Amino acid sequence: GIVVSSLLRDTGMVTVDPGFTNTASCESEITYIDGDQGILRYRGYPIEQLADSSTFLEVAYLLIHGELPTPAELESFTDRINRHTLVPEGFRAFLSSFPRGGHPMSILASAVNALPTYYPESLDPHDPEAVELATVLILAKIRTITSYLHRATRDEPLLYPDYARGYVDDFLRMTFSRPYEQWESDPVLVAAMDKLLILHADHEQNCSTSTVRIVGSSNANLYSSVAAGINALSGPSHGGANEAVLTMLESIRSGDDSVETFMKKVKNKEAGVRLMGFGHRVYKSYDPRAAIVKKHADAVLDRLGAKDELLDIARGLEEIALRDDYFVERKLYPNVDFYTGLIYKAMGFSPAMFTPLFALGRMPGWIAQWREMMSDPQTKIGRPRQVYTGPTERAYTPLEQR
Ligand code: ACO
Repeated sequence: GIVVSSLLRDTGMVTVDPGFTNTASCESEITYIDGDQGILRYRGYPIEQLADSSTFLEVAYLLIHGELPTPAELESFTDRINRHTLVPEGFRAFLSSFPRGGHPMSILASAVNALPTYYPESLDPHDPEAVELATVLILAKIRTITSYLHRATRDEPLLYPDYARGYVDDFLRMTFSRPYEQWESDPVLVAAMDKLLILHADHEQNCSTSTVRIVGSSNANLYSSVAAGINALSGPSHGGANEAVLTMLESIRSGDDSVETFMKKVKNKEAGVRLMGFGHRVYKSYDPRAAIVKKHADAVLDRLGAKDELLDIARGLEEIALRDDYFVERKLYPNVDFYTGLIYKAMGFSPAMFTPLFALGRMPGWIAQWREMMSDPQTKIGRPRQVYTGPTERAYTPLEQR
């Protein structure tokens, strides 16, 4: 709830709204969510139609520029991104300097933060050409960096891009192919990956996007702002949930708990155990993205011949939750993360890669939101107030008297 406080003598009345559950931080034309009805639209287009018919770069263009691209606009956008896929040699050495086993989200955030040291001409947040260049550079390099994050865990070298392929197709090739291998891409997997990235591309003022905006509101450059977004995403209550879901399913499979015992722990709130991948601040009905992912989980697993017992456990948990009073009363439904990890796992990604994949998908949304904020004349530096509850004024006690 909201507490209206008049404790602050200097500002008069302020609202205290922990978690900002009832505070709109901005006006935005990018993404519409109706949490009660489970509706999600990017720039007015229903997520179901975009997931069915468009590609990730088309959606990125839509989010960033406001309209679906014409064929010529999409070609030129794709070309510009492709041309920037390679990373500088020094940057590659920087990437490989992290200890093996370091979490890929830490490396990803550091990498994006360090990127502009190589491209100072793209830094000025108020120069439209610099912002356009930074946009293209980030979308290009994050694909390369993310494929590297996967390869680094296997001591495999970074691969050169193949400009003739699409963004997602070449991402999968750069991630999974061996040097000099003739890579045959699988259209079912490319389409599934494309859809997952589209589903993650924006979600209005969530924790990471709000972070991007608040960092940018100090006129920090685009790289610094989205790197902060990556860090915000890393937490298990946000993007890190997709990895946490797999850990939870694995622990049930390995017999630590049966499904029933686990659910009992969740409902008794034992040691803060939550059903990961369930619940959402805004959706109080089925997350429309989860519905799409669930439909595709089967198709992908079938295609890969990867019958996964974890999918059965996940379905079992969902079945119990959908008719259990605890979850029904609190309107807790599966969110986008509940089934995505199972698809990524079947494709060959390790759980630590799931959140970087979320970041790869969310990048166009962060960029679009940052750009909208920077061009909004209403934007002010983000600076919330507080209600001070500490001691009133007291006299200093010298050290020797304490
Ligand atoms: N399992 C069990 N109980 C839950 C869960 C859950 N996953 N989520 C919420 N609850 C309960 C809370 O304990 C609380 O119960 P109470 O009323 O008895 O105190 C009630 O539901 C409301 O929960 P809040 O934490 O107040 O809801 P909030 O909107 O702040 O949290 C969040 C939303 C963080 C997503 C939460 O549902 C959660 O922790 N889910 C699990 C993590 C997860 O899947 N995160 C991914 C979110 S989607 C994304 O980032 C793409």
